[in-house]
Amino acid sequence: MRRILITSALPYANGSIHLGHLVEYIQTDIWARFQRMNQNEVFYVCADDTHGTPIMIKAQGEGITPQELISRVHKEHDQDFKDFLVEFDNFYTTDSDENKFFSEEIFKSLEKAGKIIIKEIEQFFDQEKQMFLPDRFIKGECPKCKTKDQYGDSCESCGATYTPTELINPFSSLSGSKPVKKKTKHYFFKLSDCEEFLTHWTKSGTLQPEAENKIQEWFKSGLQDWDITRDKPYFGFLIPGEKEKYFYVWLDAPIGYMASFQNLLQKKELDINFDDYWKDSGKTELYHFIGKDILYFHALFWPATLNFSGYRKPTKIFSHGFLTVNGEKMSKSRGTFITARSFLDHIKEPEFLRYYYASKLNDSMADIDLSLDDMVTKVNSDLVGKLVNIPSRTFGFINKYFDGKIKTLNDIKKEPFYFELIQKSLDLQHEINELYENRLFSQVVRKIFTLIEDVNELINDQQPWNLAKNIEQNKEQLHNVLTTCAYIFRNATIYLTPILPNLSFKVASLFNEDIFHDFNQAGKDIKNVTKYNHLLQRLESEQVENLLSANKEQGLSKPENKKINMNQQIKIDDFQKIDLRVALITGAEYLEGADSLLKITLDVGSLGNKNVFAGIKSQYEPNSLIGKKTVFVANLEPRKMKFGVSEGMILAASDEKKGPFILFPDEGAEPGMKIK
Ligand code: 2FM
Ligand code: ZN
Repeated sequence: MRRILITSALPYANGSIHLGHLVEYIQTDIWARFQRMNQNEVFYVCADDTHGTPIMIKAQGEGITPQELISRVHKEHDQDFKDFLVEFDNFYTTDSDENKFFSEEIFKSLEKAGKIIIKEIEQFFDQEKQMFLPDRFIKGECPKCKTKDQYGDSCESCGATYTPTELINPFSSLSGSKPVKKKTKHYFFKLSDCEEFLTHWTKSGTLQPEAENKIQEWFKSGLQDWDITRDKPYFGFLIPGEKEKYFYVWLDAPIGYMASFQNLLQKKELDINFDDYWKDSGKTELYHFIGKDILYFHALFWPATLNFSGYRKPTKIFSHGFLTVNGEKMSKSRGTFITARSFLDHIKEPEFLRYYYASKLNDSMADIDLSLDDMVTKVNSDLVGKLVNIPSRTFGFINKYFDGKIKTLNDIKKEPFYFELIQKSLDLQHEINELYENRLFSQVVRKIFTLIEDVNELINDQQPWNLAKNIEQNKEQLHNVLTTCAYIFRNATIYLTPILPNLSFKVASLFNEDIFHDFNQAGKDIKNVTKYNHLLQRLESEQVENLLSANKEQGLSKPENKKINMNQQIKIDDFQKIDLRVALITGAEYLEGADSLLKITLDVGSLGNKNVFAGIKSQYEPNSLIGKKTVFVANLEPRKMKFGVSEGMILAASDEKKGPFILFPDEGAEPGMKIK
């Protein structure tokens, strides 16, 4: 028996689980279930990643404590995972006593090992908010291409990476104010000192070849010491001996794997030695499933941290690629940024996603695409049309003519034509095991479906419903066909169990067997077969359409917004209440800290000058607007906004894909003219 500890990356506790996350949890869960089905000792642990500035800021924004936020999100995440059949042995939190203990202990060991140094650094400081700003909270112009409103670490327009101090006209995205540079003392982990160890470790077969290559690039550009400190205010663990300095979230996050495991042992009172899994690598195996974006943390910082604090290193790190939906990055405007909950609300069946992902997943770091139309075709054709088709077309006859009994394997051996087919399903077991072990799930699915297709062919060729018409004469043949169908269907379902545990559970009840928790059950006789019960519902394209429209950020594409809302009809008098005027744009400027707004100054003729804040930054350069005329809502109640008072509104058109487009009056219209 192997002893295996498996982890998935810890999701941040400030957002919902979405289909991108689920690639990893489903991939890991399939692998963990497979390992359990081979009677190994398996622990699959995870936790919410709860610390850091974004979580602190989000809680502040909601007027709650970070603890309240993370506890709410934890419940949500926990339910999402359960509903997608992701079966953690423990889903914990990094904001725990265990994690604090291990983080402090590891830090102290690293200090003892001479791997921690203190350096004074200069960082941007927001004087209004009285806090140092993480890179993501500083914005400004890209130093390379000059695109405005870029984050402090990289430019979304040209892809350049830089430090926040290189930004042109930096501003704090928290207060909009100009940050100042301030000195501060930080603790660093001396990664530069770990090169020899890491060079060796990263080449020891623990990484996929693509990951190994990537790491070589990082070695070439030189390993930088890692800043593990964040100044107050911060949500996290205080560094021992400090009152205002905290561990950076990425220091305690992977330690959360240990803490979750330790908590599991205590909670379930398991008679397992913690050190077997975290110190003595000869006794156990440790696997981390991660996305390729966090490879640096897991393949460099993490093994180095473990090694120099006296812990074991991971056996292997499995990275996967990103998810695209319909061939593109997930997008809120296209409705493809889909949360786990919304998928369940519309598609209902979590196993459709599990099956689709499995049919695409392999051991590489390549991105995978979820084509929603393809998913509909695939689940309907494979799962409903081929797999579930077998019992639905045969089990009734087993009950009607054979009292639910099929032949034993020994009996059917006497019929070589049929037995050969069954034998094929037994022979595949070894291969399927290998494929699962190597995470080649797409090949697992393909192999299993060759069996299922064989059975469908047999059903079509021998047509049990026709054989049954003349049962006296065909009884033996019918029994052979049904026996073959039942065994292969049972075996295929056993092999699919890690991917489709619920379906497998339902199928098990058709055979009156225990749930399929053991691959070796494939070689056993089937005792009897109960009447077929409905197993799966077809997926309708309409469900996918509804899923997409429910996830579109802008309401315009929702079906009800495509037509006029007659419930909100207005009378001509209502319309005439709106004082619409022609206005000349005399000034337009960017606002520090505003994501979408521009400040627009208007000359509205006899009404004088007016200021408005308009959400048109994505479409217009301020200078290009000056001198143009537009339509102004003059009698809108002034609104106090973050940047000042908006004294009206200018009109623009947009839909979910394009816009906004400002409305311009025809030539000759003068500022102040009333629009009727
Ligand atoms: O990238 C992320 O979503 C992180 N929350 C993953 C942490 S994994 C582990 F190291 F804790
Ligand atoms: Zn740029």
